[in-house]
Amino acid sequence: MAHCKHFDFDELQRQEYQPGLEGKIATHHMKLYHLVVTMERPIVLEFGVDKGRSTCVLLTACEKTGGHLYSVDIRDCSDVAESEAWTFIQQNDQAIGDVLAQAPALASGIDLLHIDSLHRREHVLRLLMKWFSYVKAGGFITFHDVDPTPYLPGQRKDNPRHEFEAIGVAQVIREFFYANEDHLFLEYHFGSTGMGIMRKLTPFGISPNPPMSLRTRQVIVSPAGLWWSTQHMLRSLGRRFFKRQGV
Ligand SMILES: C[S@@+](CC[C@H](N)C(=O)[O-])C[C@H]1O[C@@H](n2cnc3c(N)ncnc32)[C@H](O)[C@@H]1O
Repeated sequence: MAHCKHFDFDELQRQEYQPGLEGKIATHHMKLYHLVVTMERPIVLEFGVDKGRSTCVLLTACEKTGGHLYSVDIRDCSDVAESEAWTFIQQNDQAIGDVLAQAPALASGIDLLHIDSLHRREHVLRLLMKWFSYVKAGGFITFHDVDPTPYLPGQRKDNPRHEFEAIGVAQVIREFFYANEDHLFLEYHFGSTGMGIMRKLTPFGISPNPPMSLRTRQVIVSPAGLWWSTQHMLRSLGRRFFKRQGV
């Protein structure tokens, strides 16, 4: 059984689908576990270890399936877990050549790639463009921290910088998804800071299309809009007036 320094897998499992914030966080991470535990000898790669919550669930699933987890962090997080099924790589996750040199098995195909390192639009995009082709057809790319809502004004984690970063990350995932839509499925789980799960059907080794620019309409006051709202307002005033007269 994987030994995780800061997390107890059984406790995370107990928290799954329980009410409250801890229940949400555990439920999102247990989704990673459920994906991996159904695979046969999976090769799993995660970016961003820190105290190792995702490491703990992914590693437990790898141990149960004869798979292997490779965890990359720019800082030394080598002591957060202990297991024969685990390799920690201290590296910048964008240094693809260096990561592959320390984990050559990744070059034969990744079953699940979990992205939870630097939550910035450009960073997530570079990871997607560099690592996408290494994920096997039918494999998964998962993303933690995809929902800006908790960072909005007055919300639990009110923080303008994180709000803009999370908006950027959510947007680039959507742009990437629509640029490669024919071969992708994408689902989001809200609550806490959100978890995104992308399933890839594109064959291994094929590079993705770059993200598609998605323009939104500007809110403008048009003559047609003004005419519509004036009519709407007059109709509702008329209804109220006649109701008061008892007509
Ligand atoms: C949000 S934490 C990861 C949390 C972890 N997945 C968990 O579930 O507990 C983000 C981590 O990403 C690491 N990180 C930041 N930039 C990185 C980079 N360019 N390459 C690799 N790791 C990076 C940080 O050192 C930090 O430990």
